[in-house]
Amino acid sequence: MIKPETIERIMDAVRIEDVVSEFVTLKRRGANLLGCCPFHNEKTPSFTVSPAKGIFKCFGCGEAGNSVHFLMKHEHFSYPEALRYLANKYNIEIEEEQLTPDQIEKQTEREALFSVSDFAQKYFADLLYNDETGRAIGLSYFYERGLSDNIIKRFGLGYCLDDWENFTRHAISNGYSENVLEKTGLTIFKDDGKRYDRFRGRVMFPVFSVSGKVLGFSGRVLSSEKQAAKYVNSPESEIYNKSKTLYGIYQAKGAISKLDLCYLVEGNIDVITMHQAGIENTVASSGTSLTLEQIKLIHRYTKNITVLYDGDSAGIKAALRAVNMLLEEGMSVRVVLFPDGDDPDSYTRKYGSEAIQQYVVTQATNFIIFKTKILLDEAKGDPIKKAELIKDIVSTIALVPELIERNIYVKECASLLDIPEQTLATELARAISARRKKQFDKQAEEQQQAATTIETTAVEAQQGNDIAKAEELKKTLLMPELQDDATDVHERKLISLLLNYGDTMIKKTFLNDQGEEDVEENYVAAYIVADLMNDNLSFEIPLYQEIYEIYKTKLLEGEIIDSNYFFALNREDIATLVATLLVVNYTVSDNWKERFRIYVPSWEDNLDKDVTQSLLRFKQQKLDGRIKNIMEQLKRPMSDDDTMMLLYDLNNLKKLRVMVARELNQIITS
Ligand code: CTP
Ligand code: MN
Repeated sequence: MIKPETIERIMDAVRIEDVVSEFVTLKRRGANLLGCCPFHNEKTPSFTVSPAKGIFKCFGCGEAGNSVHFLMKHEHFSYPEALRYLANKYNIEIEEEQLTPDQIEKQTEREALFSVSDFAQKYFADLLYNDETGRAIGLSYFYERGLSDNIIKRFGLGYCLDDWENFTRHAISNGYSENVLEKTGLTIFKDDGKRYDRFRGRVMFPVFSVSGKVLGFSGRVLSSEKQAAKYVNSPESEIYNKSKTLYGIYQAKGAISKLDLCYLVEGNIDVITMHQAGIENTVASSGTSLTLEQIKLIHRYTKNITVLYDGDSAGIKAALRAVNMLLEEGMSVRVVLFPDGDDPDSYTRKYGSEAIQQYVVTQATNFIIFKTKILLDEAKGDPIKKAELIKDIVSTIALVPELIERNIYVKECASLLDIPEQTLATELARAISARRKKQFDKQAEEQQQAATTIETTAVEAQQGNDIAKAEELKKTLLMPELQDDATDVHERKLISLLLNYGDTMIKKTFLNDQGEEDVEENYVAAYIVADLMNDNLSFEIPLYQEIYEIYKTKLLEGEIIDSNYFFALNREDIATLVATLLVVNYTVSDNWKERFRIYVPSWEDNLDKDVTQSLLRFKQQKLDGRIKNIMEQLKRPMSDDDTMMLLYDLNNLKKLRVMVARELNQIITS
């Protein structure tokens, strides 16, 4: 347990722009910072960071929250993990309260896996320099491959002794459990009770997350024994997912973002050699074919990627395969092929750092042009092959999302292929509409499937006599628009005003005792709470009511709280709701305003109107509910006295309803 005072110190020190910019490239836009959202796919930035409010919000997908939420969502940290990360970043010492056994249980397995991986990385790195065998075998291997001490340390390289269980024993004597050793794959346990180090006798390449946590390892053999696999990798675990990480991303992300370009190579050693040669914007997919997740990871920092492949035919095939996916993700792709048999590592060893730096720049070819040339070379004037090749090229161009870019490719390829531009353009138009239709059909099918699933579940619920659930499901199925019902909208609006503008002053005109117009100035929080208390109103949706109660209690104690107070409560449901209600105003630059004479009304400009209106709508909603309720009651048989009472109430409510409606009308038309 991290002490509340410590949490407060951390939250005081945190600057959201620092935290987010580790992962997302941000550009200043007025008072805010703007970038491409890391939580969904977008080409025009709508991910906004507000330093003043300490929050982020994406206007595209709706993700929002403070620094802690950002880390929880982005890095899949738990709440304490995120706090520890921030404490570390801002050099704040964490004072922990003694954990209860229950909390130790819960101190997630993830944290234990991270911890043992970090421990292992440090141990292997230490052996490399401080153990006799480590130096003689491991370190001299790296030296042989031309790596400097500097780069070895930067990549945290190490050595695992060639002993059955040297590491396992060391880890266990340091308090790590067999369970976490097995889950990370560092130790292999056999059914007969035997155990051994997975990586024994190998040089170690730790795989780091974007934020620099050790997720897993890749170990390379030294001996040239044929039967041993050249590389052994950590198995998939709760913290290591090979298809979602890129080797070198931690060390490369700054350069990728700064240079707005990413080099993609095949192997770990290639990454390290490139970095050593001064090309630090390099990562590897580590032997697997590139995945969508890896592409998205790169896309956070840049849309420009250059794929470096071996010049043999396997390398070319790999390049051709990887690229369609990249294009579909809206990346701009170029290709560099190395002379037959060379990879970036061997090329650099042969010709030196300057040579590779030049090579990757001068050899980079636009991918579509590259593909056209290769296919053209294969077709060698065969007309049937050429027709196929045109189809192939067209289907690739069709993947490019931008019209302008597509048109450029049409021009260039038509000239390369020596066919009229119009022919290619027509083919392209056909390919695109075929693709769209396919996508549409797929979507329709998915929707149909989802509907069928809900229907089946609803029928099952009904058969199991869970009528409430069945009704709920049917509602989802039939009337999706009902989900956002009026109560929710009006109640949500008031909560949102309290959270975002509670401490803003507004003016309100009212008639005083003498019947004269008077102006009063007060906090939004005060208006809303006083008004609701006056009429003894509460929220129907329990979570809103809970938030309101907390807010009200604090206000009556003289404090206006905001979203950060709720975030600190460590209540997932409240935090999620509060995050979605946060407002970050888009700012339009002064230059734009002047040039286009734009007047941008901010919400604040009309805040007083908005508050009054929202309160009235809230009341109207309440009155409607009560009126409906009385009408229902009146349908039931009851005594004349009771009927009278109800009719009296009904009459009053209806009068109120008219008054509220009139007031609302006045505000709307004023
Ligand atoms: N790889 C793997 N398992 C293997 C072989 C390769 O996981 N059995 C992965 C490794 O991440 C490796 C990458 O695929 O870095 C590329 O493989 P390869 O080109 O064979 O290795 P190099 O990186 O060139 O390694 P080296 O130069 O040390 O031979
Ligand atoms: Mn190699």
